[in-house]
Amino acid sequence: MKYQFPEGFLWGSATAALQIEGGAAADGRGPSVWDVFCREHPEKIFERATPDVTCDHYHRYEEDVRWIRELGHNAYRLSISWPRLFPEGSGALNQAGVDFYRRLFDLLRSNGVTPHVTLYHWDLPDALARRGGWENPETIAAFEAFAAACFEHFGDQVELWSTLNEPGWTTLNGYVTALHPPGKTDLKAAVQVATNFLIAHARVARSFHKAGRRGKIGLALNLSPVYPATDTAEDRQAASLADAIFNRWFFEPLLLGRFPEEALALYNRCGFLPEISADDRALLAAPSADFVGVNYYYPHHVSAEASGNDFHLNTSGRQDENCRFSIGGLFRFVRNPRGQYTDWAWEIHPDGLYELLIRLRDLRPDLPVYVTENGIGRVEELAGGTVDDQERIDFVRLHLEAIHRAIQAGCPVRGYFMWALMDNFSWINGFKKRYGFLFIDRQTLARYPKKSAAWFREAARRNGF
Ligand code: BG6
Repeated sequence: MKYQFPEGFLWGSATAALQIEGGAAADGRGPSVWDVFCREHPEKIFERATPDVTCDHYHRYEEDVRWIRELGHNAYRLSISWPRLFPEGSGALNQAGVDFYRRLFDLLRSNGVTPHVTLYHWDLPDALARRGGWENPETIAAFEAFAAACFEHFGDQVELWSTLNEPGWTTLNGYVTALHPPGKTDLKAAVQVATNFLIAHARVARSFHKAGRRGKIGLALNLSPVYPATDTAEDRQAASLADAIFNRWFFEPLLLGRFPEEALALYNRCGFLPEISADDRALLAAPSADFVGVNYYYPHHVSAEASGNDFHLNTSGRQDENCRFSIGGLFRFVRNPRGQYTDWAWEIHPDGLYELLIRLRDLRPDLPVYVTENGIGRVEELAGGTVDDQERIDFVRLHLEAIHRAIQAGCPVRGYFMWALMDNFSWINGFKKRYGFLFIDRQTLARYPKKSAAWFREAARRNGF
């Protein structure tokens, strides 16, 4: 075997509540901001898909845990639906929601599967969204109460907690590109929301630690290495700024207890500096994560030539539909002419993951890392009860090789979660973009293991490949 992983390495896949559960109105669940966004702006979602049913995991979780076991995973990353526990975002707890997750965690554990649980994977209760969402400090307080309820009710079943999934990506799309709810382009609000997420994480982590809870708490960050499009001083400067805004704004407070100077200087010039109370400032000055989760899909290539704002994501999977991201006067993301791209125009670049891991190691050599998401969205069809997704096998293998190299170089990576366990509601991409080890027949919702599931099962069994 060429790539032997450390003993105890976690081999699993990931999902998020809104993307797989369905049961949107079942047993007292309240609406989330995504349910409402899809209802009010169906034109923004590919083929007007909705998260009402998705994979119906809420009703089929027993079958899904059987699949997880069948696929040989020893861990599973999932999220808890906040509006299933608190239909109004705060206040009365919905016991049926608690019971659902208790049953699910029990079943996972009795099948030898370690749950890695995210508290917030973008399904903000609509009641909070209507009062200003993450711009409103009330939401931070409600999140603290939600987190406390989760620790209280599931603390004996869960030992690995992530407070947030991808605060950067959700802020970017909610407050800059306007592609996700709340659909705004307001850069000042974006900086405040990005900071409020960090405050929310830090407060929850503090109470987790103070209460002496069993287990570890961290969060999952979307990280992308940022390369200058050319070697000019302008592009290099633009790339460094983009790195400060998209990567360092999030990992520096967590790992080092500070914000990147470059981003602070820009926000100061623009009048965007976030409001932070003295207490929160003190809190953010101390590292607060027991581990960091890395969600890695692709790198960025940055040009300083950006005349205006322009945002577009490929949601069709058509080769001729490019992603566009430009903030006027700052920078623009460009396509790598030498890059290899997926059907949704995301570059495939496994070395980028290695570079990120080494960067984290250099900052905090002792801090455990999980690759909490990594995967490839494809157009797929069932043939003979399976899908021949050799491209996914190659994608996963190359990224695992990069992780192995990083581990050899001293980065303490403890596990890998492929996105995703099953094809799911891919946000504004609807259902065409398929990511799963399990193919979901959209008519019957039957699950079929793809060829990649067998490859991964063997790698997990041998703890390497
Ligand atoms: C991450 C999210 O950004 O990427 C997942 O945490 C998401 O929820 C995944 O599904 C892939 O992105 P997309 O938009 O192609 O579904």
